[in-house]
Amino acid sequence: MNEVLKAIRERRSVRVFSDAPVSGEELDAILDAALYAPSAMNTQASHVTAVRGLGRIAELTDALKEASRQPGFDRYRDYVGQETYTVNFLKAPLFLIVGADRTRSFCPREDGSMVMANILLAAHALGLGAVWINQLGPAADEPGFRKLLTSLGFPETHLIVGCAAVGRREGANPPAPPRIGGRFNVIS
Ligand SMILES: Cc1cc2nc3c(=O)[nH]c(=O)nc-3n(C[C@H](O)[C@H](O)[C@H](O)COP(=O)(O)O)c2cc1C
Repeated sequence: MNEVLKAIRERRSVRVFSDAPVSGEELDAILDAALYAPSAMNTQASHVTAVRGLGRIAELTDALKEASRQPGFDRYRDYVGQETYTVNFLKAPLFLIVGADRTRSFCPREDGSMVMANILLAAHALGLGAVWINQLGPAADEPGFRKLLTSLGFPETHLIVGCAAVGRREGANPPAPPRIGGRFNVIS
């Protein structure tokens, strides 16, 4: 099978990581893949903030939990304390925040999603594991959380499209969830 198609088939969401760090070369390769994602009208209006190390990431997840307690986050407040809330169990050494410029991009969410797809596939192709983390998006405009984002160099004009937790997989690659059929048709 073609290597790219094989990687698409075999990439899985990885949520259990070993303590081993992601190297600088691996991070560079992932960021390069992010840079080469397509964008509507070629605006290239996406941005990636790479946060390295468990200490920095813990700072981020603590701020997220705090943001989720603010008015307007009722939907998330219920999840914050639960063990299944991803940020509570994530121990990835690298966390990528993918943003897109809402003042410049024609389709910020679509542009950012293309970047996310490249990141997840690149991590897999490098023998790493990764998973999309969704919880930061809704908190991005909560003032306290935005302050932290700004201090990390995340641009003020950007919304958060998604985040990727990246690390070395502990254990086997998870099996692919069964595919639901009937989701395409072909007309000749
Ligand atoms: C838009 C989007 C948001 C997601 N958010 C989360 C998340 O917050 N936490 C998580 O553990 N997985 C998250 N995932 C991963 C999905 O749960 C996962 O892709 C799905 O279960 C299929 O598994 P696979 O990626 O191994 O094929 C998200 C995936 C997408 C595309």
